[in-house]
Amino acid sequence: MTVPLSTRGKLLVFEGIDGSGKSTQINLLADYLNAHGIRTLCSFEPTRGPWGMKVRQAAAGNERLDIEEEISCLLQDRREHVHNVIEPALEQGTWVLLDRYYLSMMAYQGASGCNVEEIREMNEEFAPVPDLAFWLDIPVETALLRMAERGLARDAFEEASFLEHCYRIYASMDMPWLVRIPALGDALQTQQQIRQAVAEEYPQIFSRANTAALA
Ligand code: TYD
Repeated sequence: MTVPLSTRGKLLVFEGIDGSGKSTQINLLADYLNAHGIRTLCSFEPTRGPWGMKVRQAAAGNERLDIEEEISCLLQDRREHVHNVIEPALEQGTWVLLDRYYLSMMAYQGASGCNVEEIREMNEEFAPVPDLAFWLDIPVETALLRMAERGLARDAFEEASFLEHCYRIYASMDMPWLVRIPALGDALQTQQQIRQAVAEEYPQIFSRANTAALA
C-alpha cells in the first residue's frame, strides 16, 4: 500500500567542504524539528556499510581509490542507503537529515575530473531529489584551519587546491531546492538561517512565532 504523498517525510541534505559544521547544524535542526513533533532520522554518507567503508578506509590511509572504483563504491553505498534507510524512513513520514549526499559526489568526484552533470544524472536515476539542501558556505582557508585544529590536515598544498575546486563546484550549483547558508559565524546564527529557510518552505508546519528564537 502506498502512503499518501502528504504524509511522506522530507529529505533535508547538508553539504559543504570539510569542516563546514554540517553535523552541528544537523543536530540543532533535529532538536527543532522534534520540538515541533516531527520524527527525524539523521544519517550520513559515505555510510559505515561495506562500500562506504572501503572509500573511508582508503582515505584514512591517505590514499584514494582509483576514481572509477571510488565512484562505483560510492554509488553502491548510496543505493543501499536509499533502499534500506532513506526510502523506508520517508515512507513512514520521518524527516531524513543527511550529512552529505550526491551533491558531495558532484563536488568531490567532479573536482577529481568527472563530469559534474553526468554525476548528477547517474544519481538521480535512483536517488530521491532532496526537498531542501543547504550548502554551508565557508572559505577554503577556514576549512583548512578547522581541519588542522582537528588534526585532519594532509598535504596542505594539495588539499587547498582540491578543496578550492570542490568549493567552486558547490558555488556553481543552482538547483531551486539548494540554499546557500553563509556559515562562517556563530553556529547558532547559522542555525537560525537554516530554521528560517525550513519554516519558509513549510509555513503550514512552522509558524513565524516558533522560529523567532532558538528553542
Ligand atoms: P565527511 O563528511 O568528511 O565524513 P566524516 O566527517 O565522517 O569523516 O566525508 C568523508 C569524505 O567523503 C569527504 O571528504 C567527502 C567524501 N565524499 C565524496 O568524495 N563523494 C561522495 O559522494 C560523498 C558522499 C563523500
